[in-house]
Amino acid sequence: MKFTFTSNKLTQIKTDAIVIPIFSKGTLSANAQTLDTASGKVITQLIKQGDFHGTAGESLLLPTIAGLRTSRVLLVGCGDIAEFNNQCLEKFCTAAVNTLKNTCKTVCLAIDDFHIKPHTADWILEQSLLHCNRVSYEFTAYKSKKTPLKTVLSEISFYTDAKHAQQTIKTMSITIDAINFTKDVANQPCNIGTPDYLVQIAKELAKKHSDLAVTDMDVKHLKRLKMGGILGVGQGSSNPPHLIELRYRGGKANQAPIVLVGKGVTFDTGGISIKPSSSMEDMKFDMCGAASVLGAVKAAVELKLPINLIGLIPTVENMPDGNSYRPGDILTSYSGQTIEITNTDAEGRVILCDALSYAKKFKPNVIIDMATLTGACVVALGTINSGLFTRHDHLAHDLLSAAAQSDDKAWRMPLEDAYYPDLDSDIADMKNSGSRWGGAITAACFLDRFVDKTQAWAHLDIAGPAYTAGKGAGATGRPVALLVQYLRNQSAKK
Ligand code: BES
Ligand code: MN
Ligand code: ZN
Repeated sequence: MKFTFTSNKLTQIKTDAIVIPIFSKGTLSANAQTLDTASGKVITQLIKQGDFHGTAGESLLLPTIAGLRTSRVLLVGCGDIAEFNNQCLEKFCTAAVNTLKNTCKTVCLAIDDFHIKPHTADWILEQSLLHCNRVSYEFTAYKSKKTPLKTVLSEISFYTDAKHAQQTIKTMSITIDAINFTKDVANQPCNIGTPDYLVQIAKELAKKHSDLAVTDMDVKHLKRLKMGGILGVGQGSSNPPHLIELRYRGGKANQAPIVLVGKGVTFDTGGISIKPSSSMEDMKFDMCGAASVLGAVKAAVELKLPINLIGLIPTVENMPDGNSYRPGDILTSYSGQTIEITNTDAEGRVILCDALSYAKKFKPNVIIDMATLTGACVVALGTINSGLFTRHDHLAHDLLSAAAQSDDKAWRMPLEDAYYPDLDSDIADMKNSGSRWGGAITAACFLDRFVDKTQAWAHLDIAGPAYTAGKGAGATGRPVALLVQYLRNQSAKK
């Protein structure tokens, strides 16, 4: 999809369809008024006759109107103007794209009528781009038959008074590409999307960009490094584990890097502590953390951000097998700390801990890991907010600001010593799973044992937001928007 903008006069815009918001209670926006005047009061009449009320969710497609250079006008109800928010904007964009995608090549969305405090017109443009992209995205790689109605829409133009529209569209187009890339990777079925596949994707990405380098650590390499966590979880699968390292140098040589770590469990059966079969297929999304790291790195490189960035992806398949790790096993992690496995389904933390210890070698400015780590986090926060765990208030502030700016929401959760005893082990340094209660927090506490307390580190539990389950299931590309916003903000500080 091509995204453009226009600030031409509404009546001068040449396009296959113009989309105009209509608010409820008869409040005509500036654009609705222009249209009303140009058309000889068509809108006033529709409202007067009770054919249109402007309630949210309502829409009406009109054929060409005299005085306009478009063949269609789509009216979309937007509710009370005083209560207009980003969810309403999303509904507006969704209605526009879904109604017109099969008939129009180009459409123009009038978004300059919208005001969402305290945000700017550029922010509304940014969010409109994200919403339109979300509705337009399709994953059709494995459909042998094309759908009867073909999508013909190829360009969405925004009628906006945003001050930096050109720049906003440029930045967001790269961000959107990265989000779609993350979705494409995460949506792969697990017979294709194996650890080897993630290695291949990382290598392809590095090949395209000369300032991006990749190192693939295979089983031999991991054994030499004594990465007992990654090797232990990976040993039950015929798809061998890897640790992928991506290095982007956009900053000065001596500038401490930001390290992103992503959980790359390409399929999580639970292992010997096997999961129930219902919805087990959704566990192909257990590598959404890894896919988000790939997307964020891609965006940083393409935006040419003046930062140094490392992406680390421990990737395994968690399978039950004669060679699998067992409940009761003790693994020695890369850090030297020993882990008593009490549940092979708590595998994410066991691979992440090795990657987090490994991150130390880069002397990072900041480490951020992201993982579909616990069902408990979904119970706590649902699918709306990612769980944010960090001991470092300034990092929490920076990430929560980026979350608010991108509307890729995150909510801070506790990370404190009082939760530690839940994972105390009688015979090893720690267990990998504890009681049911506070499961997202104790998982974060497990990871916390592998990072120096002085190191700025944050953990994002994205088990809820990373994908939608059930019918129409698919990766959402979260939290790529949050990460890109965070990295852009860090770049601006340099
Ligand atoms: N990948 C799962 C977490 C998960 C659950 C993600 C539901 C998305 C939706 C993780 O590996 C897991 O199985 N966690 C266990 C931990 C428990 C055994 C301590 C869980 O959440 O039940
Ligand atoms: Mn698991
Ligand atoms: Zn998992």
